[in-house]
Amino acid sequence: MTDIRYLAPRTLDEAISAFAAAGTAARILAGGTDLLVQMRAGSVRPGLIVDIKKIAEMTTIEEAADGGFRVGAAVPGAVLAEHGRFGKVWPGVLEAVNLIGSTQVQGRASAGGNLCNGSPAGDSVPAMIAAGAIVTLQGPNGRREMPVENVPAGPGRTHLLPGEILVSFTLPPRPPGSGDAYLRMIPRTEMDIAVVGCGVSLTLKDGVCTAARVGLGAGGPDRAAGRAGGESADRLAPRGRGARGGRCRVQRGLPSDRRQARHHCLPHQGCRRAPEARGCHRRQARRRRELKTMTKLHVSTLINGEPAEFLCEPYETMLDALRGPLGLTGSKEGCSSGDCGACSITLDDRLVCSCLMLAAEAEGHDLRTIEGMADGEKLHPLQQKFLEMAALQCGICTSGMLVASEALLQHNPRPSEEEVRFWLAGNLCRCTGYDKIVRAVLETAAEMREAAQ
Ligand SMILES: Cc1cc2nc3c(=O)[nH]c(=O)nc-3n(C[C@H](O)[C@H](O)[C@H](O)COP(=O)(O)OP(=O)(O)OC[C@H]3O[C@@H](n4cnc5c(N)ncnc54)[C@H](O)[C@@H]3O)c2cc1C
Ligand code: FES
Ligand code: FES
Repeated sequence: MTDIRYLAPRTLDEAISAFAAAGTAARILAGGTDLLVQMRAGSVRPGLIVDIKKIAEMTTIEEAADGGFRVGAAVPGAVLAEHGRFGKVWPGVLEAVNLIGSTQVQGRASAGGNLCNGSPAGDSVPAMIAAGAIVTLQGPNGRREMPVENVPAGPGRTHLLPGEILVSFTLPPRPPGSGDAYLRMIPRTEMDIAVVGCGVSLTLKDGVCTAARVGLGAGGPDRAAGRAGGESADRLAPRGRGARGGRCRVQRGLPSDRRQARHHCLPHQGCRRAPEARGCHRRQARRRRELKTMTKLHVSTLINGEPAEFLCEPYETMLDALRGPLGLTGSKEGCSSGDCGACSITLDDRLVCSCLMLAAEAEGHDLRTIEGMADGEKLHPLQQKFLEMAALQCGICTSGMLVASEALLQHNPRPSEEEVRFWLAGNLCRCTGYDKIVRAVLETAAEMREAAQ
């Protein structure tokens, strides 16, 4: 039996002393879009989860008088996108952060988590390197700073010292004539992991490039080319991650990666997708039994405008709590890994996956689920339109589609077709097809606008 504890300290000092005291058994929780997936898969078994989102310094964005920015390590991508100035000064960094996952993942995922997770394919990392961003770290031995490119130590590893927490990113002021950009190559059009990612930041003066930085992601040194005396990547990527002193080589998409990818399966597919994946769900069930703990947490929250209280295990997700003790079974479990959107809810008006959020994190927040969408017996216009236009079949995806669509119309009452498709990219439907769903959302938006006049 494994005991898990959950802490949500309000100060950095508290967080560091708890994190450092728990040693290697502790994990920092920012957005949880990597950590919860890893816990679910059983690859990470934390004894202590330290949620840093109640620490003000971790969740704020500040513009300095000189035009530089300090971005808290746990600021979600969606919050960065809403900042009035950040995207104007650092459009490439914002583009990179906003490429992380779906609308739901954006509601939680942070650049700090992206960097500390240590994935070579982390989208924000090359853009931060190109921007010349500096991280502030704090641990039991005090504060220190280092350039972003010095943080990764290899796949899944960083140069953070034991007990150290990434506090913030500092981006320098931009001289006139500066710009940045991030591009990634992915096999699909959306919701994919970079095969290679590239961030560039340039400064031009009188038509001459006076400063250039390039960060490469998902690549590594090409030792063979280095031996053969190939062109040095220093000329292209002087500060590129993994690229110093040699040519770069794309490292993803190898046969071994593809074999590993086949091990993913969805519960409702009954592990039929790949014979070698059979047993995934048996492993998950065993993992849930192993995680049993005697220390239930008491959570007070608002659900669909009504005060709600419940008890949960520290490792339980909000989806588990909704479908279990709270009896709100409208949110569906399609994948438990943030990929399908069937569990979509809003948290303080922001779209999130309830499977990627701990139930304990709901304390003091305002949650809305599909059960709160209709007005008594009167269906929401979106629900009505989905029925009229047969925009559903089996219904597994429907509550997530509806919650996500409602959040879109609140955020943007006049979406284009492209904007609807982009917003719903994290909501998968296996049987209806997306055309009817997209048309239902567009028609509802038009009717709601007309009704509001
Ligand atoms: C459906 C889906 C799609 C995704 N698509 C993409 C994508 O397109 N591109 C991409 O790059 N990533 C993608 N990801 C991965 C993930 O969303 C990102 O890596 C994200 O930025 C992680 O941020 P987080 O705040 O959720 O981190 P968390 O999950 O909270 O943390 C990640 C790791 O970093 C550690 N950590 C977090 N913050 C700190 C800190 N301040 N100090 C020290 N350690 C810390 C945690 O302990 C954990 O080990 C996707 C994930 C999902 C589920
Ligand atoms: S995204 Fe949460 S169940 Fe699929
Ligand atoms: S209606 Fe069946 S998955 Fe969408």
